[in-house]
Amino acid sequence: MIDGWGNTVTIRVVQWTTGLIAKSAVRAVLAQPDLELVGCYAYSAEKVGKDVGELCGVPPVGVTATDDIDELIALEPDVVLYMPQLPDVDHMIRLLEAGINLISTSYFITGHSFGEDNVARLREAAERGGVSLYGSGINPGLASVVALTAAAACREIERISVFEAVDCTSYESAEAWQALGFGSPPDTPGIAEISKQAMLVFQETIEMMATALHAELDEVRFTPQFGVATKDLDLGYMKIAEGNVCGINGRWQGIVGGKPLLEMGLLWRLGDAMEPDWPIEHGYVMEIRGVPNIRVRYELEFGGDPEEYVAAPTANPAVNAIPAVVAARPGLVTAIELPLITATSINVSV
Ligand SMILES: NC(=O)c1ccc[n+]([C@@H]2O[C@H](COP(=O)([O-])OP(=O)(O)OC[C@H]3O[C@@H](n4cnc5c(N)ncnc54)[C@H](OP(=O)(O)O)[C@@H]3O)[C@@H](O)[C@H]2O)c1
Repeated sequence: MIDGWGNTVTIRVVQWTTGLIAKSAVRAVLAQPDLELVGCYAYSAEKVGKDVGELCGVPPVGVTATDDIDELIALEPDVVLYMPQLPDVDHMIRLLEAGINLISTSYFITGHSFGEDNVARLREAAERGGVSLYGSGINPGLASVVALTAAAACREIERISVFEAVDCTSYESAEAWQALGFGSPPDTPGIAEISKQAMLVFQETIEMMATALHAELDEVRFTPQFGVATKDLDLGYMKIAEGNVCGINGRWQGIVGGKPLLEMGLLWRLGDAMEPDWPIEHGYVMEIRGVPNIRVRYELEFGGDPEEYVAAPTANPAVNAIPAVVAARPGLVTAIELPLITATSINVSV
């Protein structure tokens, strides 16, 4: 990064956890000469004291993981890549107050689903620390930005729809799937509400998109349908009995004047035996109704490596946003107010 004096400066990065997405983030940080990995937080006790390279499946990097937050703050990082399975608002506030920018892939776009009190606490902490908090990933995150960017070609917008359809079998996070109702009978009382609560960050996404369009939403609706396994599934990390939920087809809608202005369709399935057998297009279709109508297909090519398919497209938008977030105004920031974020590491040798 070039500072205000024209000098090249290195951005000091702490990686928060080394789970699926974080492993990929570490690879991206190590690939960028402007970024320096200086520390790592470990949630799991057995990871404390281990080299981050070992934890992330790359050669040793000389940085060991710790569960001591003060130790990480003392390293004076510029930014934490925050990628825990579940966010902890108190941890986030400590880091922001200490003057550390935070980029989260963990359930954060506007923060509204954390509750207005927590949003206010996070905003105040960021402002006190003079730093920014930004949420990213592929979806929530980049997918809605691609759709909004495509809509720049329109004079008028009637509706923007983003449809995600992914076979998520390689995404080995049993807790995340159980939180959505996967593995439970489809008639489990309250299952629709359970899945909605686990996906509230997509409501935040719809609200962020509405802000971009200068639209005031009357309400945001969520309607889920569940797919069930037509045989017992053993995914290695999770078993799903025949007849239980192994897929979801959920739709978030931001309503204006009784009609959806914004839509986010999420079709995720696990395993190879589901009823209804909804087709999976592996990626995103963005449909823009307006003047003109626009259709965008955003496909993730699956070369057989699950890291490239799910983790990398989630981690890289967060890592690539680091310079913009470090330079952003203090407070809670969304993609709407950041400059264009693109890949920053080129490889001309391939
Ligand atoms: N925006 C997007 O596009 C997108 C896409 C996929 C996932 N995500 C989100 O990104 C985050 C990371 O995803 P992931 O797949 O990497 O998650 P993960 O592998 O399930 O968990 C990440 C790490 O969280 C820590 N952890 C485990 N249990 C925890 C708990 N109960 N509370 C807090 N932390 C816990 C562990 O850290 P240690 O490694 O230190 O033990 C674990 O490795 C999640 O919040 C996920 O929902 C976002």
